[in-house]
Amino acid sequence: MLANKTIVVTGSAGGLGEGIAQICYREGANVVLADLHGERVRQVAARLGVRALGVTCDVRNAEHLSKLVEQTVKRFKTIDGLVNNAGINFVKPFLETTAEEWELLISVDLRAVFFLTQLVCRQMVRQSKGGSVVNISSVHSQSVLPGSGPYDAAKWGVVGLSKSIAVELANEGIRVNCISPGLLNTQIWRDIQAAAPDAAACVEYWNANIPIARVIEPTEIGELAAFLLSDRSACITGANIFADGGMTSQLISREPYVSKNLKPELGS
Ligand SMILES: NC(=O)c1ccc[n+]([C@@H]2O[C@H](COP(=O)([O-])OP(=O)(O)OC[C@H]3O[C@@H](n4cnc5c(N)ncnc54)[C@H](O)[C@@H]3O)[C@@H](O)[C@H]2O)c1
Repeated sequence: MLANKTIVVTGSAGGLGEGIAQICYREGANVVLADLHGERVRQVAARLGVRALGVTCDVRNAEHLSKLVEQTVKRFKTIDGLVNNAGINFVKPFLETTAEEWELLISVDLRAVFFLTQLVCRQMVRQSKGGSVVNISSVHSQSVLPGSGPYDAAKWGVVGLSKSIAVELANEGIRVNCISPGLLNTQIWRDIQAAAPDAAACVEYWNANIPIARVIEPTEIGELAAFLLSDRSACITGANIFADGGMTSQLISREPYVSKNLKPELGS
């Protein structure tokens, strides 16, 4: 699906970014993996193979972003796709969250998406052959949890920003879409289980809150990202696709009893 395309994936030293990079590579792309953790991301790139390049990049740093674009073009000539995946999260009561904490989260999860997409889209416009941007939002772009205000704001913001750029750059052949994943099998899921007093009960609880009754593998999101990066999705732009196993479609996890009285009846 992605032969002869060069795709940049941020936050790809592990977790979801690594899964997305794996599938893009399998589909024939040249893949540039960018992450704060340079050593780790170069190891991931080396494991993928000769069409992968690992780059140290703090997405908050304007100079790093320019260098990322320069290094990509130097090595592979063009940029055809970008996945803004790098992200951080924390949970803290709204009334206690500080300006520094707000700014840190917004700078990684929202501000960096704006400025890296701008640099990459300028390059795509120069190349005159369009391109595709995939922004990783979250189920938090629809439903939220207490204590995640900055994350919720950033992930809703990413969807609005994506729609805006999609509309503005459609005439350049550039498409911009979001993926909103549900709970993923990455470090955060391992941390949730480790913090639980009973790991099995924790898994059962979360599975009950996900209609497909399991967490999602990074490579499953990678399959969707590869489709959105490919020419097969040429008519899709400005979309936010929930890849959440049904999580945001479900009102409550389960009924404690069978609602026997709820039969279709004509009124008397
Ligand atoms: N894990 C989930 O359940 C879940 C659900 C929905 C959405 N998401 C989103 O998916 C994305 C990836 O999540 P994950 O679970 O793989 O997280 P993760 O913490 O396992 O991986 C995130 C990667 O981003 C990198 N990173 C962090 N700050 C960076 C910076 N300033 N510059 C460059 N790289 C940086 C980290 O080094 C790490 O490799 C995030 O945007 C997250 O919000 C995750």
